[in-house]
Amino acid sequence: MNQFTQQLEQTARAMVAPGKGILAIDESMPTIKKRFDSIGVESTEGNRRAYRDLLITAPGGGKFISGMILFEETLHQSTAAGVPFPKVLAAQGILTGIKVDKGIKALPGHPGEVVSEGLDGLRERLTEYRGMGASFAKWRAVITIGTGIPSSGCIEANAHTLARYAGLCQEAGLVPVVEPEVLMDGDNTAEVCFDATERTLKIVFHELYRQRVALEHTVLKVNMVVSGKKCPTQAGVQQVADLTVKCLRSGVPAAIPGIVFLSGGQSALLATAHLNTMNAMYPQLPWPLSFSYGRALQDPCLKAWGGKAENVERAQRALLHREHCNSLACEGKYTEALEKEAA
Ligand code: 13P
Repeated sequence: MNQFTQQLEQTARAMVAPGKGILAIDESMPTIKKRFDSIGVESTEGNRRAYRDLLITAPGGGKFISGMILFEETLHQSTAAGVPFPKVLAAQGILTGIKVDKGIKALPGHPGEVVSEGLDGLRERLTEYRGMGASFAKWRAVITIGTGIPSSGCIEANAHTLARYAGLCQEAGLVPVVEPEVLMDGDNTAEVCFDATERTLKIVFHELYRQRVALEHTVLKVNMVVSGKKCPTQAGVQQVADLTVKCLRSGVPAAIPGIVFLSGGQSALLATAHLNTMNAMYPQLPWPLSFSYGRALQDPCLKAWGGKAENVERAQRALLHREHCNSLACEGKYTEALEKEAA
């Protein structure tokens, strides 16, 4: 219990409210450059502001989106009319989240594996972010599948770091989104992804317990159990749904208020279909299953925008459509026919 208990409870509940999910727009500088390169737009401060402005101000987003995760630069930016972004979100009933890890670095002694940095000075940064309107935070840990990896040393280092971060967030009154992401870049089968994800979850929750993190005030963000992109046989939608739910049941305590998925490189349509199938087939899970997608929500919108002011409305419509589809998927009510209607 701390002075923020009630607020943490409220925030966590709101983040995974029925039919709502999270829009991740917290791409780091190298990542947003990659996204902008794909549409031939230069990653300048002005272009990043303009793009995030259209995502944040898309009319009607508050119906489907409970929170948006911002990159630190965006937290300090404002609309063209000078209204700070957290204020614009609050006016739509959308919570402001902030990515607080400082990115990944090679883990010594563990070739091919990484650990996320950013704990130094985090207590002070969290207080500052809270003062600017943030009510939740995100820290992404990256787990890689390969020959002989993930190693226990890598999973444990990341789990400990996630737990230290989560404790600091709760102390500061921010709900931590704990994100261990098992990458889907390899040639491994979905079964191998299952094992790596299950092992990771068990160690992460053990560390959260050891660091006295309140699970009731923690949201889990995790990968689905999918085949690696380079695997010649790809698990189908039903199999992904079955394996993912089985893995979560094994590794995630019932005290967690909600689980949100990252899209991790899945196409926009597949990410929606997977989430929908899980919710349609497994309506009685201990936690709501929702989304916290970056690419799977933004990709069609980014393409429609193409860096041109005259395309803003079209881009916002593309974003709203994906938000709507994923909102329905949270309740198992999405159908592919909706895609044709919108096309
Ligand atoms: P993707 O959905 O594009 O994987 O991004 C989500 C995210 O926030 C990763 O940390």
